[in-house]
Amino acid sequence: MDSFLIRGGTRLKGKIEISGSKNSALPIVAACLLAEGKTTLRGVPRLSDIDSMTKLIGELGCHVYRHEPEGGNTADDSSAAHHPPALNGALDIEVRDEKLSEARYDIVKTMRASICVLGPLLAKRGRAVVSIPGGCAIGDRPVDLHVRGLQKLGATFRTENGNIVGEVRGRLKGCRMYLGGAQGPTVLGTINVLCAAALAEGETVLVGAACEPEVSDCADLLIKMGAKIKGQGTPEIRIEGVDRLTGAEHRIIPDRIEAGTFMIAAAITNGEIELKNCNLDHLIAVVDRLEEIGVRIERENGTVYVSSSRRLNTVEMTTQPFPGFPTDLQAQLMGLLCLGDGISVITERIFPDRFLHVGELNRMGARVRKEGPTAIIQGVKELQGASVMASDLRASAALVLAGLVARGTTRIDRVYHIDRGYEKIEQKLAAVGAEIERVKEK
Ligand code: EPU
Repeated sequence: MDSFLIRGGTRLKGKIEISGSKNSALPIVAACLLAEGKTTLRGVPRLSDIDSMTKLIGELGCHVYRHEPEGGNTADDSSAAHHPPALNGALDIEVRDEKLSEARYDIVKTMRASICVLGPLLAKRGRAVVSIPGGCAIGDRPVDLHVRGLQKLGATFRTENGNIVGEVRGRLKGCRMYLGGAQGPTVLGTINVLCAAALAEGETVLVGAACEPEVSDCADLLIKMGAKIKGQGTPEIRIEGVDRLTGAEHRIIPDRIEAGTFMIAAAITNGEIELKNCNLDHLIAVVDRLEEIGVRIERENGTVYVSSSRRLNTVEMTTQPFPGFPTDLQAQLMGLLCLGDGISVITERIFPDRFLHVGELNRMGARVRKEGPTAIIQGVKELQGASVMASDLRASAALVLAGLVARGTTRIDRVYHIDRGYEKIEQKLAAVGAEIERVKEK
C-alpha cells in the first residue's frame, strides 16, 4: 500500500486542471449498458474506481476500449501520468453480449457505485443480480430507495445468498413516484431509476429526484442516446419511455469535488491557484462558504482564480443535497476550519457518521469535538505533521490538505483510498509547489 510524505508550509501557486467527474463517469459508464452500438465518452478520469466499473461492465458483455492519450503518447498507465487530464484518451463502450446479468461481490465490495448497473440491466436485459453492497467507512449506505423505485416500475426483487435478484416480466412500466428518503433525495438511486425509466413503457415522473449535476449529466447522455427526458436538475424529472437507445458521444462534466478540494488547498496554504475546467455553477454553496471565511474567488475567461492571504474567519456549515454544501467536501472544509480564527460548526446531514477524519486531524494538533452529527472546531494557530491513516476518499483528502500546511512532515498511509477518486493528486499538487511524494509499497 502506497503512502504520501508531505512536507508542509509551502504556499501553493500555479495552475491546476480539473479532471472529469468521477461521480458522473461511474453511473454514465453503467448507463452504456442501455445502448445499442458504440458510445464514446470523453473526459473520463483515470481512477481505480473507473477501472472497477469498466471491469464490471466488461464482465457484463461490454467491449471497453481506452484510446491513446491525445497528443500521441501510448495508452498505458505510466505514460498517462505525464499528460494533462484534458488529453486523457476517450473511452469507447459497446455492448456485445447481453446474456450475462450478474455483478459479482468481488467488484461490488470494492465499489458501491456498482449498484448503478441494477437499473440498466433490468430495463435492457430483464434480469439483474447484484451483490448487496455492505456498509462502508462513511456509514450504512442502504440501497432500499433504488429497489423501491425500480419496484414501482414493475420489477420484482428477492434476496438470495447476499445478492439482490431483480426480474422484469415483459417491459417496465412508467408511473409517477416519490423517490426521496429519510435523508432526502438519493443521487445514484435517482440515476438508477432514471436509466430504467428511459426504456420503460409510457411516462415516468420522478418526484423528489436528486438535483446534483451528476444526475443531469447522465440525463444529458441518455437524451443523446435517444431518451426523452425533461426536468433533470430539478426535483421533478419526466421521462417518456422509448423502445431503444443508441450509442452516442459525450463529455463528462468537470469534477466539482476535486475543484472544491483544490480551492481549499489554495486557501489553507494562503496560496494562489488557477483552476482550469472548473464549473463554478456546480460549486455555488462552496464558493459562498469560502468567501464568507475570507477566501477570494474570481472567474475570468473560463479560469477560476482562488487565493487567500490571511488567517481565515470561522463559519457554520450544514451539508445538504445540491445546491447545498456537498457532503463530499465536508472533511476538506473541516481541515481548513481547523486553522480558523475561532469556533466553527459543521453538521453532517447526508451521512451523519462521516467523521473518521476527526480523530486523525486531532492527531495533527487540531481541536475538533464531535457531538452526534455535529463537529465543533476550535481553530488553532498551527497543525503539526504526524503519521496518519487514510480511511475513506474524502477524509484522506482532508489529511492531505492538513499535511500541506502542517509544521514538519506528514505521512499518510493507505492512499489507495485517494487513488479511487483523485486523478494524479500528488502530481497536480507538486506542480503548484507542494512538497509531496508517493512512497511505493516495497
Ligand atoms: N439512502 C438511503 N437509501 C438508499 C440510498 C440512499 O437511505 O437507497 C440515504 C443514504 O444513506 C444517505 C442519503 O440517502 O443518507 C443520500 O445518499 P445518496 O444515495 O445520494 O448517495 P449515493 O448516491 O450512494 C453519491 C456519491 C457519494 C456522495 C453522495 C451524496 C457516487 C458514486 N457517490 O452516493 O460520493 O457522497 O452521492 O452526495 O456518486 C464520494 O465521492 O466520496 C462519495 C461518497
